[in-house]
Amino acid sequence: MTRNHVNHFRLLALSGSLRAASFNTAALHALAQLAPDNVNVLISGLGDIPLFNPDLENSAPSSVIALKEKLRACDGLIIASPEYAHGMTGVLKNALDWLVSGDEFVDKPIMLINTSPRATHAQASLKEVLITMSGKLIENAQVTIPLLGSQLDCQGIVAHVDISQQLKTSLNELCEAITQLK
Ligand SMILES: Cc1cc2nc3c(=O)[nH]c(=O)nc-3n(C[C@H](O)[C@H](O)[C@H](O)COP(=O)(O)O)c2cc1C
Repeated sequence: MTRNHVNHFRLLALSGSLRAASFNTAALHALAQLAPDNVNVLISGLGDIPLFNPDLENSAPSSVIALKEKLRACDGLIIASPEYAHGMTGVLKNALDWLVSGDEFVDKPIMLINTSPRATHAQASLKEVLITMSGKLIENAQVTIPLLGSQLDCQGIVAHVDISQQLKTSLNELCEAITQLK
């Protein structure tokens, strides 16, 4: 239980893209700006997570330990990942593989952001993986926003009336679900 008081939410946000101009990472930064004062969105990069090796699980690298600690401390998880060849990115899957055997992930409420309406395969596969890992997908908090092909960066997303409202609505649904589940 990490909420400082009843209505405070601490959320961990992961992007499946390492690209500097990533739409997925931009969406997470926009969400962090759009979040109300009682909702803290902590974006944690996955670029320093080494390739998963089960042999190293008992002596995990410091970046993995840090990720697990952030996950344990959060009330909910937000994931935004591109689709690569109909799957989630290796960056995201690799990070998730490190989290399979621990208890930090179990029952964690999850919001998914899909920044491309055509990217249905990766979302379906990501959902299957997250459910298999005993995460709690919050259906009302899943949002698809048409960023791919747009010119929108973080500030553009924040300023976009429809897209920013969709993000805020999903975030609100996630926080509602967290409240209900506690
Ligand atoms: C290696 C690679 C494979 C891709 N495969 C797909 C795909 O299968 N389906 C799709 O809709 N987009 C695909 N794309 C497009 C990306 O999903 C798109 O560029 C997305 O914006 C990348 O996310 P980012 O902006 O957060 O980096 C692919 C892009 C790359 C680089």
